Amino acid sequence: MASELHPGRLAVPAVRELSPYQPGKPISELERELGIRDIVKLASNENPYGPSPQALRAMHAALDDVRLYPDGAAHELKLALAAHLGVDASCLTLGNGSNDLLVLLAEAFLTPAHSAVYSQYGFALYALVTRETGAQPIEVPALGLDADMPFGHDLDAMAAAIAPHTRLVFIANPNNPTGTWAPPAAVKALLERTAATTLVVLDEAYFEYGRGLGTQDGVAWLAEHPNLVILRTFSKAYGLAGARVGYAVSHPEVADVLNRLRPAFNVNSIAQSGALAALGDQAHMRRTVDDTMRELARVQSEFRRLRLWSAPSAGNFLLLRLATAAAPVFDRLLRSGVIVRPLAGYRLPDCLRISIGTRQDNDRLLSVLPQLL
Ligand SMILES: Cc1ncc(COP(=O)(O)O)c(C=O)c1O
Repeated sequence: MASELHPGRLAVPAVRELSPYQPGKPISELERELGIRDIVKLASNENPYGPSPQALRAMHAALDDVRLYPDGAAHELKLALAAHLGVDASCLTLGNGSNDLLVLLAEAFLTPAHSAVYSQYGFALYALVTRETGAQPIEVPALGLDADMPFGHDLDAMAAAIAPHTRLVFIANPNNPTGTWAPPAAVKALLERTAATTLVVLDEAYFEYGRGLGTQDGVAWLAEHPNLVILRTFSKAYGLAGARVGYAVSHPEVADVLNRLRPAFNVNSIAQSGALAALGDQAHMRRTVDDTMRELARVQSEFRRLRLWSAPSAGNFLLLRLATAAAPVFDRLLRSGVIVRPLAGYRLPDCLRISIGTRQDNDRLLSVLPQLL
């Protein structure tokens, strides 16, 4: 009988064992479930101010040609990015979000005979993409709560954990969901210690937010370190999370491998136009980053006033550690129309990750949270 067949069991073992990535709850889902309106979403580290108006206009204009396939080489966007970053266009690979590039890197460089190193509390996708290839995950304990950078990557321990079969090391700087970051000298020291047979993937998804705090610009190290891969995205500071555009900057040989593997049209034409125009409006991006970091400082100081502990953050979000289990607080916030992110999946059951919204969004959070604890 057809109902007794289990076609899902035909999948390769490493994939059958995967737990899916848990994205933030969409506003529409909460509206449907609870029948409430006026919902504030602080769950996915999006830019609450949205993209440059120039990007929106460019995306509308791109609709006129939507019957045509996109430029698979994304020629214009790549040239603009190359000029912006000061690298040759041959160093670039575009992805359907930087998420796509993490998958491509794992597919290109990991097999069951290899391993990948990442930090405890490192971005969840590192474990997921490693496991889907059957490679051995090497999760390195994070820094302790008493460290200068509590929950941060322990880069010394990560460098020491690299084995001869390690092909990828994932470093998120700043990291999601902790917000923690490592100073440039510490990242550079790890690079110096890493053999050329291991690629260091430096995920700078929140690069634009962390600049004031002295995070690195990894692109500057590429010439010296051919085993370095930098990931950036238009999803966060550029406000284009829904359009899905990310990119890798790497040695041209690594870019060549990734470009051979990537589906030819992985970045659609509307997204390419939006990203190009967003890149051209640096003033808008910087304004939204400055507004967000001002709000982050305000929310942080309100947390301190409420005697709530949050980790230091160079991203557009805060990791809040409660004195009790976070799940009931998450639920009560949901019922008050505020969506945040529970972190039990990261084995942080007493923590919530809260994205920084507009002043009005944050005021809403700060007005309901104290009564829900
Ligand atoms: C550290 C980090 N890297 C990569 C990504 C993937 O982002 P995207 O695929 O939207 O570029 C995220 C998204 O939250 C992230 O937090």
